[in-house]
Amino acid sequence: MKLVFATNNSNKIKEVQALIPDSITLLSLADINCHEDIPETAPTIEGNAIQKVTYIKEHYNLPCFADDTGLEIQSLDGAPGVYSARYAGPERSAEANMQKVLKNLAHTTDRSAQFKTVIALYLDSTTTCFTGICKGTITSEKRGSGGFGYDPIFLPTGYSETFAQMDLKIKNEIGHRGKAVQELVVFLNQLTSFVL
Ligand code: IMP
Repeated sequence: MKLVFATNNSNKIKEVQALIPDSITLLSLADINCHEDIPETAPTIEGNAIQKVTYIKEHYNLPCFADDTGLEIQSLDGAPGVYSARYAGPERSAEANMQKVLKNLAHTTDRSAQFKTVIALYLDSTTTCFTGICKGTITSEKRGSGGFGYDPIFLPTGYSETFAQMDLKIKNEIGHRGKAVQELVVFLNQLTSFVL
């Protein structure tokens, strides 16, 4: 079976391909000649993931999954949330986004936050969602140079290193995206052991 992963990030594709049954071959957006910008205009993280798979279903009629991620900060009423990529403006600058978070939390004692990834899977005319959450706190300054996005200011609960300081292997094990992928993998493994 061929399954589209609605991304052109080859690292993400390799990572997931290694975890799913050999009977499923992942295709990127480029593999299906999808070069347009898929709309991500829903008001929620779930909504964006569903919007992406619905686009592939409607334009390409192929089984597909898509992910969407956001950082939700409790004392900012869940912001930046679905707007995480463009929190400080359309340039999608990770540095500006982090500075805006630090500024908005400058006088706040509750710095609790969570990363949330939702993967939407469209298969056999049904859309199913898988969610991965990683809880933590926002540090008072940036720490570490690894990772991307908000990693230097996110300290996962139970760890003394930010996502940007820790080994990528550990981030993938405890992180939001890794957890959502694990849910997807369990689902696909169960499916293929019965159907394929
Ligand atoms: P996307 O849905 O994967 O495109 O993520 C949306 C935005 O959330 C990105 O632009 C990043 O700023 C942020 N983000 C997503 N995943 C992570 C992560 O694992 N660490 C830090 N920031 C992330």
